[in-house]
Amino acid sequence: MVFYYIIRKALTEEKRVSTKTSAADLVTETDHLVEDLIISELRERFPSHRFIAEEAAASGAKCVLTHSPTWIIDPIDGTCNFVHRFPTVAVSIGFAVRQELEFGVIYHCTEERLYTGRRGRGAFCNGQRLRVSGETDLSKALVLTEIGPRRDPATLKLFLSNMEQLLHAKAHGVRVIGSSTLALCHLASGAADAYYQFGLHCWDLAAATVIIREAGGIVIDTSGGPLDLMACRVVAAGTREMAMLIAQALQTINYGRDDEK
Ligand code: IPD
Repeated sequence: MVFYYIIRKALTEEKRVSTKTSAADLVTETDHLVEDLIISELRERFPSHRFIAEEAAASGAKCVLTHSPTWIIDPIDGTCNFVHRFPTVAVSIGFAVRQELEFGVIYHCTEERLYTGRRGRGAFCNGQRLRVSGETDLSKALVLTEIGPRRDPATLKLFLSNMEQLLHAKAHGVRVIGSSTLALCHLASGAADAYYQFGLHCWDLAAATVIIREAGGIVIDTSGGPLDLMACRVVAAGTREMAMLIAQALQTINYGRDDEK
């Protein structure tokens, strides 16, 4: 867990910040350092395993999920928060075999909360079992989302119109915390009733999907069909009813696919 100390220390220091796909899609030297550390440690122990990782993908590595055991890594989720010292930052590591998500680990670096989920074995936060909310009524829901990296007028119009739809449906509130993985952990903990987003990636979703499913929740595609880890979009909820209500309310924002970039 040496990466936890690195992130905690770097959070309060000056950072070298660069942009990736847009002016709001940020990366720092710490994202690279932590990703390299995690991969080199895992590769030493599991030399035949494959890796899909955010910063390697940004440098052109292909994101293809094969049947081989694969680690799916976001070294710092909430990089924009990290840059601004906003203390909502996580490390996310998922693991898949034969294209099936097996387990996930998400570490909330400033609150020292370790979220874990293993297929068939439950989901936990610092050892306490997690359970999603049982809410089915959108007019009683607290909904989480994230903005995604694009800021062009057409994307923003769709993003705001989706949020407006949920507010018209009288959702209690819509929150944006700047970290997809930690928002999804709040959903797994029952602290929110639903989550949706266009423009996130497989490394934002892999670990959280296992944690939510093991906490009793639903993770699906925004079309209402099965989750497609590479499709850059998701709806998650404590109940299927809630997930379907959210999916029906959304207009699609097309971000392409992780495995076609
Ligand atoms: C991003 C954050 C952000 C969300 C993006 C993610 P990163 O991850 O979770 O809140 O809107 O879709 O990709 O770039 O900070 O690892």
